[in-house]
Amino acid sequence: MGRTSRKPTGIFITLEGGEGSGKTTQARKLCEGLTAQGLDVLHTREPGGTLLAERLRSILLDHSVETIAPETEAYLIFAARRQHVDHVIKPALARGVTVVCDRFSDSTMAYQGYGRGLDLRVLRRMNDWATGKLIPQLTLLFDVPVSIGLSRRRKRAATENRLDRETERFHRKVRAGFHALARREPRRIMVINSARSLESVAHTVEELVMNRLKTYSARTSRHG
Ligand code: TMP
Repeated sequence: MGRTSRKPTGIFITLEGGEGSGKTTQARKLCEGLTAQGLDVLHTREPGGTLLAERLRSILLDHSVETIAPETEAYLIFAARRQHVDHVIKPALARGVTVVCDRFSDSTMAYQGYGRGLDLRVLRRMNDWATGKLIPQLTLLFDVPVSIGLSRRRKRAATENRLDRETERFHRKVRAGFHALARREPRRIMVINSARSLESVAHTVEELVMNRLKTYSARTSRHG
């Protein structure tokens, strides 16, 4: 029987973490590194990534709109996610592109679940519905103590968004939530101490991703 020439699908990598964890800078560096290795890479973000999803992002981050209920916040995030998954992420993966996404489902569990206190089981079901059960192959969790993260963020950000204005207590719950998620799925979620220098964190990221890519391509060529 002849081998089927099934096109390998791209690998889906997400970067997660609290405010000021440095994940956006690391995402950019990671994409540059992967592109230099000859990979076709798409760098995208959540909430966002499509025209509609970016509009929803503006609403979500705008502190001048009326008070947003936690449930409304979750619906807006899931609406943006569905657009992003359908129009950008899935088509790219199907073309064999490596997708690097700044935040995804774990942020919703951490912020809306652990932070806002929405029911985790409900959020999981809604998220499955929004993503069609798309799960990243690898998630890098950039972990930094809340006080350091918030002060980094305040120094860097030109404007404060709606979530930046949350209390330190809220951000502590989000961080604890990310830790709980990582304990639940230790193979997918790799915790990276990002209180270190940018270069040293970038080095860890490169090592982790390269190892995972090797395992992944060995597995797909065995099964291909
Ligand atoms: P950013 O600052 O990393 O660009 O993310 C924007 C904000 O959106 C950040 O404060 C976290 C928040 N967020 C959620 O609350 N839930 C989510 O599911 C996502 C993707 C982001």
